[in-house]
Amino acid sequence: MTSGRSFYITTPIYYPSDLPHIGHGYTTVAVDTLARWHRQAGDDTWMLTGTDEHGQKMLRAAAANGVTPQEWVDKLVTESWFPLLETLDVANDDFIRTTQPRHEERVQEFVKALFDRGYIYAGEYEALYCVGCEEFKPEAEIVDGTGPFEGLKVCAIHSKPLELLQEKNYFFKLSEFQDRLLELYKTEPDFVRPESARNEVVSFVRSGLKDLSISRSAFDWGITVPWDPSHVIYVWVDALLNYATAVGYGNDPEQFARRWPAFHVVGKDILRFHAVIWPAMLMAAGLDVPRGVFAHGWLLVGGEKMSKSKLTGIAPTEITDVFGSDAYRFYFLSAIAFGQDGSFSWEDLSARYQAELANGFGNLASRTVAMISKYFDGVVPQAGPSTELDLAIQKVVADAATTADAAIERFRIDEAIAAIWTIVDALNGYITENEPWALAKDEAQRERLGTVLYTAAEGLRALAVLLSPVMPESTAKLWVALGAEEGLGALAAQPIREAGAWGVLRPGATVTALTPLFPRVEQA
Ligand code: MSP
Repeated sequence: MTSGRSFYITTPIYYPSDLPHIGHGYTTVAVDTLARWHRQAGDDTWMLTGTDEHGQKMLRAAAANGVTPQEWVDKLVTESWFPLLETLDVANDDFIRTTQPRHEERVQEFVKALFDRGYIYAGEYEALYCVGCEEFKPEAEIVDGTGPFEGLKVCAIHSKPLELLQEKNYFFKLSEFQDRLLELYKTEPDFVRPESARNEVVSFVRSGLKDLSISRSAFDWGITVPWDPSHVIYVWVDALLNYATAVGYGNDPEQFARRWPAFHVVGKDILRFHAVIWPAMLMAAGLDVPRGVFAHGWLLVGGEKMSKSKLTGIAPTEITDVFGSDAYRFYFLSAIAFGQDGSFSWEDLSARYQAELANGFGNLASRTVAMISKYFDGVVPQAGPSTELDLAIQKVVADAATTADAAIERFRIDEAIAAIWTIVDALNGYITENEPWALAKDEAQRERLGTVLYTAAEGLRALAVLLSPVMPESTAKLWVALGAEEGLGALAAQPIREAGAWGVLRPGATVTALTPLFPRVEQA
């Protein structure tokens, strides 16, 4: 069931030498949630993630571990990066590794095409390089070292000494694209989002672009430059091309035409690569630029950008082992405004788990199902005439569904969840106000009791549909418990843009016992 509207979305491809931490997990679950939403809306959806396996950083890590770089990345990808997707319940359509032949061959073709079109030339280069960033650093990101690095120039991001590199390099004529890029940001104001990211990119490009060194000859862990085997292609050029090679650039024109162009979601640390260099490369090759680049903020731990090198890294399993993958997804996607930095703390995670998931959503589900079991022998009752209170719930559901879909279009997952949560809050208030347990004591109120419990169950039906991209596991459990599967089919097949319609759940459906969706956790 597809509408034909193509929706292709990517995560950055991760360096496998870092073990996955909650920052990587954050990007990945955000992209997965957006993809699931669009898939459930019937869009022709494709979600890509993968690993960035070449470059000096990888080569050094492999050497330090006494294995070949290929052995090193194979081990990490298999032992750490594939399992991350399971841990976080990610439904990616493809996983690209830059060491795969499907990628390497097409990268060579692409670079050759740029060379043939006159956008690449040979030159001399001398500059300070940061292996952590895999980047020659601009002035603004070079600072004086302190402590053990006193007297040295260090990278502002990694606080590690920079290396002076002097090489013959091939250059990409990035400087020629300044005007076309500025024109792109002007005519497509949503090309870079959010606004703060867009402003940063525009002022960076306005200040002038230098040509980009796109090859290295000092080491060989990379893709060979096709016309000069003494060079390998710069790891960022190699990496950015994954988004095109994975969907058939150069070998499957049909697939490429169907998927391309993509939306890219990236951390703000790698925004310029995606919003400046990448579209310029595509323009040079005569291909369409991406549909958009969305930059999210950093996860901060103790006020600092969380990172493995600064020993603030937290493995996603530390959270999922205790709270489960749904809570992980919900927490990061709802607690942080998508596009801004957000602080992680265990206290905040536990508090939100308890208040919003266990007491808010989970309890609403449990008690609704339990009351239908108790008062109607487990059969979803028919609703009688609606009162103001019932109509108010119907309106909250309809509005929440519309608002959430509009928020997802703007990539604001946090706003979508906030809109959906108005249903949870309204239904909890509705149950308190209508006191079904009191209605149940009075036979004359039987019809009213049916209306109240139908309203609660139908509200939960809408919640299951709307929350399934965020929390696929618990909503699937709820779907089954509501007896919805039989009459309506699988949860993932429910059209999400119609989730706000009323009266979808069929009276007569049989509910089944629901174990707590978000059980109490033992605090360490
Ligand atoms: N390999 C490059 C990307 C190439 S894309 C063509 C790279 N990899 S990385 O492993 O360092 O991962 C970068 C991404 O991980 C960031 O863009 C961001 O999405 C995510 N994060 C890493 N640390 C993070 C935080 N502390 N907070 C939020 N996201 C973080 O760069």
